Amino acid sequence: MIKTGIDKIALYTSHYALELATLANARGVDVNKYFTGLGQLMMAVPPPGEDIVTMAACAAQRVLADIDVNDITMLIFATESGVDQSKSAGLFVHGLLGLPSTCRVVELKQACYSATFALQMVMPHLRENPQQKILLIASDIARYGLASTGESSQGAGAIAMLLSADPNILVIEPAYGVATENVMDFWRPNYCHEAIVDGKYSSKLYLTMLEKSFQHYYAASKHHYNDHQYFCYHTPVPRLVEKAHYHLQKINAVSSANKDDAAHAMQAALHYARLIGNTYTAALYVSIASLLDQTPVDLSGKRVGLYSYGSGCVAEFFSAVVQPNYADHLFTSYHRDLLDTREKINYQKYIELFNFKYVEDGSLQTIPSYQTGAFKLTRMENHQRVYERCLVNQKGDPVKQTEAAAIDSPAPLATTSVTTSSTSGAKTATPTTTATHAFMRRVLPQSQSESPSSAKDDEKTGAKNVRVYAPAKLILSGEHAVVHGAPALAIAVNRYAVAHVNADVHQELNVHLPNLGYQSRMSSNALRILKEKVKKNYHRFIRGDFTIREVLQKPFELAHFALSLIADSLHGTPSPGMNIKLESDIPIGCGMGSSAATILCVLRAISEHLNLSLSDEALFNLALEAENMQHGQSSGLDLRIALQGGCIYLQDKKPIARDFPNFPFYVVNTGKPLSSTGQCVEHTKPLLQSSSLLSEFTGVTNQIDQALQAQSWSTLHEAVRHNQQLLTRIGVVPNKVQRFVANIEAVDGVAKVCGAGAIAGDDAGAVLILHEEPETITTIANQFGYQVIPMQCDLRGVHAA
Ligand code: HMG
Repeated sequence: MIKTGIDKIALYTSHYALELATLANARGVDVNKYFTGLGQLMMAVPPPGEDIVTMAACAAQRVLADIDVNDITMLIFATESGVDQSKSAGLFVHGLLGLPSTCRVVELKQACYSATFALQMVMPHLRENPQQKILLIASDIARYGLASTGESSQGAGAIAMLLSADPNILVIEPAYGVATENVMDFWRPNYCHEAIVDGKYSSKLYLTMLEKSFQHYYAASKHHYNDHQYFCYHTPVPRLVEKAHYHLQKINAVSSANKDDAAHAMQAALHYARLIGNTYTAALYVSIASLLDQTPVDLSGKRVGLYSYGSGCVAEFFSAVVQPNYADHLFTSYHRDLLDTREKINYQKYIELFNFKYVEDGSLQTIPSYQTGAFKLTRMENHQRVYERCLVNQKGDPVKQTEAAAIDSPAPLATTSVTTSSTSGAKTATPTTTATHAFMRRVLPQSQSESPSSAKDDEKTGAKNVRVYAPAKLILSGEHAVVHGAPALAIAVNRYAVAHVNADVHQELNVHLPNLGYQSRMSSNALRILKEKVKKNYHRFIRGDFTIREVLQKPFELAHFALSLIADSLHGTPSPGMNIKLESDIPIGCGMGSSAATILCVLRAISEHLNLSLSDEALFNLALEAENMQHGQSSGLDLRIALQGGCIYLQDKKPIARDFPNFPFYVVNTGKPLSSTGQCVEHTKPLLQSSSLLSEFTGVTNQIDQALQAQSWSTLHEAVRHNQQLLTRIGVVPNKVQRFVANIEAVDGVAKVCGAGAIAGDDAGAVLILHEEPETITTIANQFGYQVIPMQCDLRGVHAA
C-alpha cells in the first residue's frame, strides 16, 4: 500500500506573549497553580491585525517555501475561530499565497477535532492520487472571558502541514479508534466572542473519551500501549495531558505506571504548548512539532500514539511512524527563533489587546499597527476583511520596527556618491556603508538579485521574460501649490512596485497581485469590458455624478485598466497570453506615489515583453490616462518622478532634473488618510487662490531647492519647518500628526507631511523627517504607533532588471 502522511509541518504563533506569572499576579492567584497545577508558563496573545488567516498564511508560507504552489490541489482549513459564516478562511490564504485556481478550498469545524478529521479523509485520497500535494492548516485563537476559569488556558497559533504520498516526516497508519457523544462541555454560540465551558466536566470527558477511543483503536490495530514509543495529545492545558498519559498507562496496566514517569515522558511533546497555550484545532499538531523538534534522540522508525479531542465531542486515537531523515525536513530553528523573539507583554497591554474590537457595522476601520508575521489584517471595510503582505527581510521574516531603524539606518552625513549595487546595477545616491548595503539588499532583493531569466524568453514569438521596477516618490515641497501653478520638488525613493511578465503557454492572460490577495485569468474581451466600464465611471466623475473613489471600484482595477491601455496599442492584434505578477512595498494611499509606480511598471513591463518600442513620452501619456482614473486629474508629478527617478524640480509642468545630495532622512507612514487627495485639493483651493499663501509656498520650495544644491543643512531645516507650518495653515495636517511633528522639533529635528495630507481623521500618510539620530526619532515614533523607515533617493526611474 502507498504510504501517506505529513511531508512538512510548520508552526506559527503571535509575536506577543503573556507570562502566566504576570497573570497570576494580576488575578491574585498563587503562580504555582498555573506553573504546576496547569503546567502552563506563557500564553500567546494575538494583537489586532493578527487572526486565524494571517497566522495560517504565515505557517503555510513556510511549508510551501520550496515547492511549486501550482502542485497544491486542495487546501483544508480547520478552525473553530472562523471569521465568516459562509466564506472559508482558506480562501483568504489561497489568495495571499497565490495558490492555483484549480485548488479546492474548504473550512471544517468540530471544535478541536476537525484537523484530524481532515487528515484522515486526505489519506485514502492521496493513496488514490499519489501525485497530489494537499495543504492542511489548523489555526485558532483560544479565548475565554477575562478573569474566567478558562483565562489561563488561552493561546493562539496555527499549524500548516503539507500532506503527500511517501512523506518525509510522518506516515499515518491506517487503523484508528473513534468515540463520539453529544455533550455540552465547551461551546460558543454564534453571538459570543468567548467560549462557554464547563471546565471540570470537559476535563473528565477528555479522559473518558481517551479510554473509549483507545479501546476502539486497539481493536482495529492490535497495537498495544507498548507498541508506541512516544505519544502526542490534544493539549488544552499541559497538566491535563500528563494526567491523560498516566490514565492511558493505568488502563493498559503498564506495570511501571506512576505519575512522575508519565509526566516525564511527555516533556518534549508539551514544550511548545507550555509557551503558547491552547491552540484548539492546531494543538495536537503543535505537540507533534514539539516532539519532533525537541526530542534529542533520533526518532526514525518510532511509532507515535496520537490523541485528538474536540469538545462536543469527538475523540480519535490513531498512530504515525517517524520517517528516516525526518529531521532534515523540520523547521526547528525557525520555531525556536519564533518563540525566543516574542515580546513579553505586561498586564495592561494584555488587557488592551484582549479588549480590541473589530467593527461589526460595515464602517471603515484601519487596524492599529502591531507586529505581526508576514501577513496582516489591515482594515475592515464594507463588512470585508482586507489582508496585506508585510515587508519581509531576506529570510522571509517580517521586518520589525526597531530592526528596521537599527539595521538599516543610513550612515550620517556623507559625501554623495553614485554607486552601482553589485547585485542589481541600480544606481542610488548612497553612502557606501555596510548598513546601507543591508538596506539595499532588503528592498531590492527578491527583485534585483534574482535572475530575471527564471523562465526563458519565448523563442517562437521573441516575447521576453521581464521584471520591471518603478520607484515610489516623496514630495519635498510644493504639494497643493503645484495644482495652482507653483513649483514643486520631488524625489524618487527606494520603495518599489515590481511587475514581472512572461509568456503564458496556454495563451491566457493571468494577473496575480499577491499584495491584494488577487489572482485572475482574463480574456481580452473581459479586459475591454472592464476598460469601458471604468471610462464610463470616469465620465460620471467629470459630470459630478460620481466621486473619484467610485471610478475604480476594486483595488485591482487600476492594474487591469493599465493593461487594457497597452492592449489597445497593439492595434487590433489579439493580445498574446501573458502571466503578469505585480508586487509592491509602497504603502497605498499614503502620498508615496503607489498608483503611479504601479501603472508605470505594468506598462513598461508589458511593452518590453512584447518588444513594443514605446518612447518615454508615449509611456507617460498612457500612464497619465490610467492615473486620472485613480486621482481625477493628475498633475503628472508622481509619474514624472517614477519615470525619471532622482530629484525633479517641476515648474510650469516642465520637469528639471536636480542633483540630490546624500544625507539621512526618514519617513513614517502615519496611516492612510480618511479623505481623498481630491477632497484635500478642493478644501485648499480657495485658500491658495485668494491669499499670499501660494507665493509663500513658492518661496519655500525654492529655498529647499537652493539649500539642497548648496548642501546647507541649517537652511534646509528652516525651510522644511516653514513648509510644514504652511501645510498646517491650509488645514491638511491632523492634530495627531501636528503633535508628532512638534515632538520631533523638540529634539532639534524637522518633519513635514509629504503629499495631500488629510482634512479628516488622525492619519496623513507619509511624513518626512530630517534628524541625525534614528534612535531618537524611533522612540518618538513608537509613542505614536508609527514605524520609522530609513529612505534613500533612487537615481533610476522605471527600469527593467
Ligand atoms: P481551574 O479552575 O483553573 O483549576 O481549572 P483547578 O482549580 O482545578 O486547579 C488546577 C490544578 O491546580 C489542580 O490540580 C489544583 O490542585 C492545582 P489537580 O487537582 O487537577 O491535580 N493547584 C495548585 N498546584 C500547585 N500550587 C498551587 C495550586 N493551586 C491549585 N498553589 C481548567 C482548570 C482546565 C478546568 C480551566 O483552565 C478551564 O476551564 N479551561 C478551559 C477548558 C479546558 O481546557 N478543558 C480541558 C478539556 S476540554 C478540551 O480539551 C477541549 C478544548 O480544547 C476545546 C475544544 O475542543 O474546542 C477546551
